[in-house]
Amino acid sequence: MLIRKRIEPPSSEITPEAEYLNRREFLGMVGSIGALSATGAVAEGLMGGFSTVEAQQGDKVTDESKVTSYNNYYEFGTDKEDPKANSQQFKARPWSVKIEGLCRKPGSMPLDSFLSPSRIEDRTYRFRCVEAWSAVIPWRGIPLADVIRRADPLPSAKYVELTTLYDPSQMSGQRRATIQWPYTEGLRIDEALNPLAFLATGMYGKTLPNQNGAPLRLVVPWKYGFKNIKAIVKLKFTDQQPTSTWMKAASDEYGFYANVNPAVDHPRWSQARERRLGEVLRKPTLMFNGYSEQVASMYGGMDLRRNY
Ligand code: MTE
Repeated sequence: MLIRKRIEPPSSEITPEAEYLNRREFLGMVGSIGALSATGAVAEGLMGGFSTVEAQQGDKVTDESKVTSYNNYYEFGTDKEDPKANSQQFKARPWSVKIEGLCRKPGSMPLDSFLSPSRIEDRTYRFRCVEAWSAVIPWRGIPLADVIRRADPLPSAKYVELTTLYDPSQMSGQRRATIQWPYTEGLRIDEALNPLAFLATGMYGKTLPNQNGAPLRLVVPWKYGFKNIKAIVKLKFTDQQPTSTWMKAASDEYGFYANVNPAVDHPRWSQARERRLGEVLRKPTLMFNGYSEQVASMYGGMDLRRNY
C-alpha cells in the first residue's frame, strides 16, 4: 500500500485534481468537519442500527468475487491480485492467539477456545481503504470487546496492540523488506471496547479466505482499511500508544487514529470521495465512514487534523 514513489495505488483510485480542488472549495464553504459530521450522523440515524448497512444511500453488498480478489496483504505481495494468488497454501489452522501485557488474564490459547465463549455474529459494514476504494462486506465473527473484557486489562492499560503472524516460510512477502515485519496495529482501549469493533473469522457466510486475513482479522469500520489487521496472533495491552506498521513506513501520511474523514486529505490525494469496488461513479465519503453516531463521542475535543 502506497509507499511513496515505490508503490502507488492504481491511478483510477485517485480523485482527478479538478474534482479534488472543487471539493476543497466546497469544504471551505461549509466550513467545518462538524458540518460533515452532522451529515454522517443523519445518514447513520436512518440506518436504524449498526449491524447492517444495506439499503442506505445506495449501499449494497459488494460482490464477493471483488472483495476476495482485490486485496491489500503485503505478506503475500504488493499488487492487488497477489494475495489471492499467493496465499492459497497458507495454513490458517491450527492457530493460537496470545494475550500479553497489562492484563490479569494473559495466556496463549487455541483459536477455538479464544472464540468459543462468544456468540458468533453476522455484521454488514462499509469498508473504506485509505486509497479511496470501498466496499460493503458481510462479516462473521465476535465483538472485540468480548476478548478485551475476558483478558481483564489493568487500569494502566490504555492501548491494545495487535500483531500478525511472522512466518516467511509461508508468507512470501515477508522475505522482502517492503515494510517492517511483523505487521502491527493498535487501538485505544475505549476504541477496542466500542460495540462496532469486531474480530472476523468469516465473510459472506463462509470461513474467511486466506487473502482476506484468515483465520482472524480486525474489522473497525469507522477507520481506514489498514487498521484492519489480518492473521492476528497476538493482542498486547500497553500504557504507550503503539507505533503501527504504516506509521513506521510513512508517519507523515498514516497516523495512529486513521479515522475515515472526508475533510482531511491524504498528503497526495483527496479523501472526499471514494469508488466502490465494482462501480464506476465515485460517491462522497462519509465522516467516520457513516458511523458517527456510534463513534464520534470517543474523539470529542480532539483535533482530527492533527490526530489523523
Ligand atoms: N494486514 C496485514 N497483516 N498485512 C497487510 O498488508 N493490509 C491492510 C489491512 N490489513 C494489511 C493488513 C490494508 S492496507 C487494507 S486496505 C486491508 O487490510 C485490506 O483488506 P482486504 O484485502 O480484506 O480488503
